[in-house]
Amino acid sequence: MPKTGRNAIRRIGISTGGGDAPGLNAVIRAVTLAANNRGWEAVGIRDGYNGVMLPDQYRDGGLIALTPERVRGITHLGGTIIGTTNQGNPLHFPVKKPNGKVVEVDRTDDLVRGLAANAIDAVVAIGGDGSLTIANALAKKGVRIVGVPKTIDNDLSKTVATFGFDTAVSFATECIDRLHTTAASHRRVMVVEVMGRYAGWIALNSGISGTADVILIPEIPYDLTSVEEKIASRFSEGHNFAIVVVAEGARPKGAGYSVIEKKAGAAARLGGAGERVAQEIGRRTGRDTRHVVLGHLLRGGSPTTFDRLISLRFGAAAVRALATGRTGVMVALDPPKVRYVPLAEATARMKCVPLDCDSILTARELGICLGD
Ligand code: F6P
Repeated sequence: MPKTGRNAIRRIGISTGGGDAPGLNAVIRAVTLAANNRGWEAVGIRDGYNGVMLPDQYRDGGLIALTPERVRGITHLGGTIIGTTNQGNPLHFPVKKPNGKVVEVDRTDDLVRGLAANAIDAVVAIGGDGSLTIANALAKKGVRIVGVPKTIDNDLSKTVATFGFDTAVSFATECIDRLHTTAASHRRVMVVEVMGRYAGWIALNSGISGTADVILIPEIPYDLTSVEEKIASRFSEGHNFAIVVVAEGARPKGAGYSVIEKKAGAAARLGGAGERVAQEIGRRTGRDTRHVVLGHLLRGGSPTTFDRLISLRFGAAAVRALATGRTGVMVALDPPKVRYVPLAEATARMKCVPLDCDSILTARELGICLGD
């Protein structure tokens, strides 16, 4: 990559898109410092790409200057200092028609022009499936762009892990641990719903680690009769409580996801999966049953050491990629290395839980009911 001339990188933009995840700020810090070391300026684009697409919406402008001073002390902080959004996808941008109807329009050309108008020579796009699909579209339109895999759901292909997942699983496990004592004291069935829209990684890993009796994930549509039998056998064996972990995307056999809202330009919102399971368990078993939704608590708090480290490694690797002329790639964890994979490959298929994977086999060996 030339250091001077028309193709030189002088200024890079950082975008954080989709739901937040612990580790975003660590990536922002690593990208900023690594860029600064190369003499590049770094700016944060507010709220995904809204800072470029809708700059008038911001009193201080749509970009945030990211200096070493600005990113000091943020590695351990949850959230993102530049903001994020899971609405306003430029590939499906919501536009209100004169008749009041909202339609989705592809506004990526406007975004490409906006990046150039802001003298942004290259972009580090930190996000999940949706944000990296946008990054891939921008790469095809000639934007120099490198993706960083983020999502607590861990559902991105071609990387062993996304950052944010370890923190979410650790916290979910701690919550399940805490539910044991209250469940046992009241002789109850406790149903805990965790995030995981279309992939059950959080439910599976926290459920096994937290010694749940039942784990329901989107990849295995459930039959409540097997759940009922598992709970009945547990009580008949003398245990006086049961723990059921439900991914938000879990659904009964033959039924769809529990969608509560679908707005133009945004992903479908799910909700109610845990409550539905709890009601049905209570009705079928006659046991006192309660449910709790961990939801956005899983996205908050400090990243674990694992997440901090991969976030910092991903951020530094993204800048190295741009410095060596790479574009249209995603940084991926392939222990012990970080490598680069084409964005098209990373976004081609969601990484769901394989039904023959070791964790599924482990759950079955431990006697955990998976609802099938
Ligand atoms: O994609 C990550 C995720 O945490 C999903 O598991 C969940 O469905 C979604 O975000 C919820 O996002 P929000 O409520 O912020 O729109």
